[in-house]
Amino acid sequence: MKIKAYAIKTKGGSPESFYYERTLGKQDVLVRITHCSIARGDVQIINNEWGDTKFPLVPGHEIVGIVEETGLDVVGLKKGDRVGVGYQQEACFQCEFCREGNEQFCPKQKVIAVDSYGGLAEHMVVDGRFAFKLPPELDSAKSTPLMSSGLTVYSAIVGARLPNNSRVGVLGIGGLGYLAIQFLQNMGHKTAAFTHSPKKKEMIDNLGAEYVDSSNVNESTTSTRTFDFIISTLNVGFELDTYIKMLRPKGKFCLVAQPLNKVEFTAGLLYDYAQRTIYGNYTGSRKDMVEMLGFSAKHNVESTVDILPFSKMKEAIERVKRGEFPMRLVLENQI
Ligand SMILES: NC(=O)c1ccc[n+]([C@@H]2O[C@H](COP(=O)([O-])OP(=O)(O)OC[C@H]3O[C@@H](n4cnc5c(N)ncnc54)[C@H](OP(=O)(O)O)[C@@H]3O)[C@@H](O)[C@H]2O)c1
Ligand SMILES: [Zn+2]
Repeated sequence: MKIKAYAIKTKGGSPESFYYERTLGKQDVLVRITHCSIARGDVQIINNEWGDTKFPLVPGHEIVGIVEETGLDVVGLKKGDRVGVGYQQEACFQCEFCREGNEQFCPKQKVIAVDSYGGLAEHMVVDGRFAFKLPPELDSAKSTPLMSSGLTVYSAIVGARLPNNSRVGVLGIGGLGYLAIQFLQNMGHKTAAFTHSPKKKEMIDNLGAEYVDSSNVNESTTSTRTFDFIISTLNVGFELDTYIKMLRPKGKFCLVAQPLNKVEFTAGLLYDYAQRTIYGNYTGSRKDMVEMLGFSAKHNVESTVDILPFSKMKEAIERVKRGEFPMRLVLENQI
């Protein structure tokens, strides 16, 4: 079938109409796209910051739409279902990682921008095992960011196996950080939001988290050795040592975003009167996704979004480049 999409032909370019052929495999579903976000990551992909973007690129990896057709072997989805689709599109379902339920580590996985075309389109074909029914309580536009940002931070948080009532820090309160605070608060943890944007204070207060000015963090402003877990969503450089010192013995620092330049830290801080861990988290499993959507529906976790029609996609990308958006910018397909 012929899919109408919008593609960027060269690094840093703008989207133009683009058609591609795609067959509907036995496990695939055809989704009519109603919502697609333009995330910070999309701009990084458009600019080929990680060097693996394939052009022509159809960006968009936080997607909501309606199932229009199902392949012969699709289980659990039918025409008319509202689904969310994220970054990962396929896995082999045979390797050790797939068998243990960690499809996000599958060496044969397919992801948007590297192996497949994304959600800046009227339709997409995706393996039905990577299209997730949205609980009815969730609003389509406000839930679109759950499909990648939400999954990534939820998976990082549950993967940390935090003791009840933990003290947790979130670095960077944007698309990912805003959702991370909501997950943590609803799980009963005490969350400190490290932000360099004073205008976000009221929003952070409203979520019940502690506001910390990250442009002025040092040992006298924040107690050392008190945090069980810190998650960083920063794609800009920061003083990692300062935050490692904030971790309690056995505390964990989880990176879900990568600053363009190398991050340095003092190795001794990992073992100095402590046993601290630095690690990363890459998206999440299908099980995490289903759990995360259920948790979000139950606790009303959602993003704050500006909605623009698909016809304003160029403006949307420019606004994300300039940082002029609330927590996320979502395009709505009005056809
Ligand atoms: N690991 C994964 O699987 C995965 C999945 C999805 C996304 N990501 C990555 O996560 C990163 C964050 O995505 P996002 O959508 O949350 O981006 P975002 O909405 O732009 O948020 C990033 C936050 O970083 C802070 N920040 C930005 N510029 C800064 C500066 N110059 N100095 C200090 N702080 C600054 C801001 O928070 P404050 O204003 O609060 O300081 C900003 O809101 C992206 O790089 C994306 O690629 C990773
Ligand atoms: Zn696999």
